[in-house]
Amino acid sequence: MSDIKMTTGINVKGIGKCLPEMIAANEDFAKIVDTSDEWITQRTGIKTRHISNGEPNYYLGARAAEMAIADADIQPSDIDLIIVATCTPDFYTPSESCLIQREIGASGSMAIDINCACTGFDYGLDMAKRYLQSDDDVHTVLLVAAEELSKFVDYTDRSSCILFGDGAAAFVLEKRENTLYSSYLGADGTGASFLAARALRSENVFRNNKEEFDMNMPQLKEHFFTQEGKEVYKFATKALPNAVLKACEKAGISPDELDAIVPHQANVRIIETAAKNLGVSMDKMVVYIDRYGNTSSASIPIAFCDAVAEGRIKRGDKICLVGFGGGLTYAAVIFEY
Ligand code: UT7
Repeated sequence: MSDIKMTTGINVKGIGKCLPEMIAANEDFAKIVDTSDEWITQRTGIKTRHISNGEPNYYLGARAAEMAIADADIQPSDIDLIIVATCTPDFYTPSESCLIQREIGASGSMAIDINCACTGFDYGLDMAKRYLQSDDDVHTVLLVAAEELSKFVDYTDRSSCILFGDGAAAFVLEKRENTLYSSYLGADGTGASFLAARALRSENVFRNNKEEFDMNMPQLKEHFFTQEGKEVYKFATKALPNAVLKACEKAGISPDELDAIVPHQANVRIIETAAKNLGVSMDKMVVYIDRYGNTSSASIPIAFCDAVAEGRIKRGDKICLVGFGGGLTYAAVIFEY
């Protein structure tokens, strides 16, 4: 018998997604690196991913936002705060949130970017909830996750390039009283070197030492992304079920009472192991990694949108969104849709 704690939470008023039109299938990767459809499918579950053909990241984010705004039946001017989760922004400044605000015509709202890598959507959701709960000026939040991993993926590294895709998704959020809500968020910076990318030059005109200070981080090839796949895999298979359990504990609900768990889509084997450790069937896990690959912070809301469109998630369902990724970071958020 569960003892669900009712609290102040969120109302997901509208949702939307946008994927670039260009699609790269496993066979396309077999033409550029030593790999095969069979290896990628068996080891990751991925078949295709969408890749930007020049559309900027903010373009994807803005289209997803417009769809969510239409779904929520509100006007852009109703938005008080825009939060954008991204680790692949178009510029260091201006922020992605300001660019998306300009594109959708929501001027006047607050706009802030967050970078929690693949966990960004969960962090953003919890941040939105706290603003909505504590700030009288914030009634409507637009939360967007927009990513173009193609910007920093090393297309000569077969162990990582096959994993990633581009895409965006957005939620329009309001406060909801007396509802199911809990969150569990955390980070472990000791794993910082396991997933890394640097798009900034480290030289400057005043520097006279050619060597970097040794900060125990990988020496990066230009700006490209590097990953210690096995370390991330080990971390993910523990962090994912642990975050779900911790969020469930706080909400007074057991994992099998959740109608759907939407995990970060990095590798289907990670999700299968997590389901096993949680004692829930794979039917409960929402998985669309075959279509999109890993779109970092956008992977959870994109999967959520597809699950709603296909009737797998319905209004009133108890949902857990659970992420893990660079930082290292991890988080789970439970709410009623
Ligand atoms: O958002 C978070 C981001 N990242 C992740 O979640 C990544 C987590 N890690 C993983 O998903 C997996 O570790 C990978 C998919 C990256 C790799 O899968 P794996 O089963 O751990 O493979 P492995 O690294 O143990 O490599 C096994 C073999 C190696 O060959 P040898 O040494 O056994 O001859 C690799 O060189 O597979 C080889 N390999 C490939 N072969 C064909 C690695 N990548 C490929 C490839 N195609 N694309």
